[in-house]
Amino acid sequence: MLRRHRHAARLTLEQLAELSGVSDRTLSDMERGRSKGPQHRTVTALADALGLADADRRQLSELAREGRLRDRWARPTGLCELPRSVDDFTGRSAELAWISELMRAESAPGAAGVGLVTGSAGLGKTTLTVRAAHALRTDFPGGVYFLDLFGMSPRPLPAEEALSLLLRALGRAEQQIASDLEGRASSYRSLLRERRALIVLDNAASEEQVRPLLPGGGAGKALVTSRRLLAGLEGVRRLGLGPLPPMEAAELLTGILKERGASDDDPALWQLAQLCGGLPLALRIAGNRLVSRPGWNAADLAARLTNEERRLDQLSAGDLKIATAFGLSYEQLAGSTRRVFRRLALVPGHSFDAALAAVAGGTSTGGPGTPSTSSSTSACSRTARRDATASTTWYGSSPATGSGRRNPSPNARRSP
Ligand SMILES: Nc1ncnc2c1ncn2[C@@H]1O[C@H](COP(=O)(O)OP(=O)(O)OP(=O)(O)O)[C@@H](O)[C@H]1O
Ligand SMILES: [Mg+2]
Repeated sequence: MLRRHRHAARLTLEQLAELSGVSDRTLSDMERGRSKGPQHRTVTALADALGLADADRRQLSELAREGRLRDRWARPTGLCELPRSVDDFTGRSAELAWISELMRAESAPGAAGVGLVTGSAGLGKTTLTVRAAHALRTDFPGGVYFLDLFGMSPRPLPAEEALSLLLRALGRAEQQIASDLEGRASSYRSLLRERRALIVLDNAASEEQVRPLLPGGGAGKALVTSRRLLAGLEGVRRLGLGPLPPMEAAELLTGILKERGASDDDPALWQLAQLCGGLPLALRIAGNRLVSRPGWNAADLAARLTNEERRLDQLSAGDLKIATAFGLSYEQLAGSTRRVFRRLALVPGHSFDAALAAVAGGTSTGGPGTPSTSSSTSACSRTARRDATASTTWYGSSPATGSGRRNPSPNARRSP
């Protein structure tokens, strides 16, 4: 614990000794757990020198009193390592500020700081969260961990397995991990109560899957991403991600194309950004296609994308494909909802409301003013339907049929 704080403050043992007036020998003993119950003024001097906030200061003196300062979780396991962040990360400054404020804030007693980032396929949920988590590393001396919950797969990661992975990543020996879900969840919460660790749970499938993986209050925090709203989750702060605004969309394209000397006053680049509707995945694909085909320019690709019938086919580069991203959500829809999705491709206009969707699909809305909460629609279908809305609005064709017809404006936003 002490060593983590020292590393977070970027101090050597000697520097901390000098700043605090505590001898480096005593410090070293404390870090190795050899010094039981150091004096209160020693701990206060260290907390002052480290510039600790109230919660950390309290925790440090409690652990010091109990002779538990040694870093029991210092053993690096290499599990659940955060993925790398993209070097051309663009925009999202308000969202990054929201996350870091939430993650740095002190939680009420017994409540955990949990942020949930939701939005349709390819909006940049993972990219944003990973970026934020890297920036927060020094605030979490207990470590930053990342786990993909495979929420869009037909077999999402079961909570028991997720807990086992997280417990091992947090330093629990395999033989100490309970065999049942409750036992695992309980030791996980107990570890996170005193350990200032950040757990990123990417791509959550359902409330049921993610609930046991949330800290139960104390020092640990969690950031969750999901295409689904996970409306049943309690005590979480929510951030609904939208498309990138036109300026940032053009900036992202310019960034991807910088080695080609692209400039953001190129009108073709703006047109391309507009055709991608602010969807970062589409922008990435368009940019990568241009980078990998030096013979093409932005105007060529924009011309190809203008053809709505072929837009989905064009938005593919290597293993990145818009159709695949939205297809994952489509696969999870019930047959009746798939029908709504396909028929909505025929609806003219930028977006549609629940009543129009009901007419198109030959179904009911579940009452006026309840566009996306039809009781006959499961939570899974609701979000997938939201993806469908986004896909139809942006691209005018379904991943299943590729047969969009009359979507007039690719830069239209999702319907409310
Ligand atoms: N702010 C950003 N700056 C630069 N690139 C971005 C940004 N946001 C997203 N991207 C790019 O867009 C693509 C899709 O992003 P990402 O995988 O984070 O989306 P997602 O919302 O997590 O999608 P899914 O629902 O499929 O998990 C990636 O190639 C990523 O590099
Ligand atoms: Mg993702």
